[in-house]
Amino acid sequence: MTARLSVTLKINGAERTAAVRPFDTLLTTLREDLALQGSKRGCNQGVCGACTVLIDGRPVRSCLSLTANCVDAEVTTIEGLAPEGRLCAIQKAFVETGAVQCGFCTSGMLLAAHACLQSNAKPTADDVKRALSGNLCRCSGYKKIVDAVLLAAEGGI
Ligand code: FES
Ligand code: FES
Repeated sequence: MTARLSVTLKINGAERTAAVRPFDTLLTTLREDLALQGSKRGCNQGVCGACTVLIDGRPVRSCLSLTANCVDAEVTTIEGLAPEGRLCAIQKAFVETGAVQCGFCTSGMLLAAHACLQSNAKPTADDVKRALSGNLCRCSGYKKIVDAVLLAAEGGI
């Protein structure tokens, strides 16, 4: 049995401690040790973007990130975008435009969109498409997703 090491992570503004194995990914730690299951396991090999979280504000695939390498970082998960259950503007815009179908890609999309708007408050549709290009939606709802990010950027929600 592989020994576990206690690590403390900064997640959504709070310190969280978990006992992790050296090979544990951040996705495994979030979902299986910290009950933060908003980050989805899709391909588990860095392709789909469903597991996207923010590390120091940048979108990162948590299925490819070792937990042990995240100790000094600020991690934001989808749960951090809606503290106390209050939806942020981008989440409201996704609801408004019908950008959520099965929802499996949605948390990763939202975090990539959040990072996009943090770096560019007034993106064009092409800017949004580029920012979300690493996130796949098997329900093919891309137009509504882009519309939602633009709606949030316009403050229309
Ligand atoms: Fe991480 Fe698909 S689950 S990129
Ligand atoms: Fe189903 Fe995107 S809404 S995968």
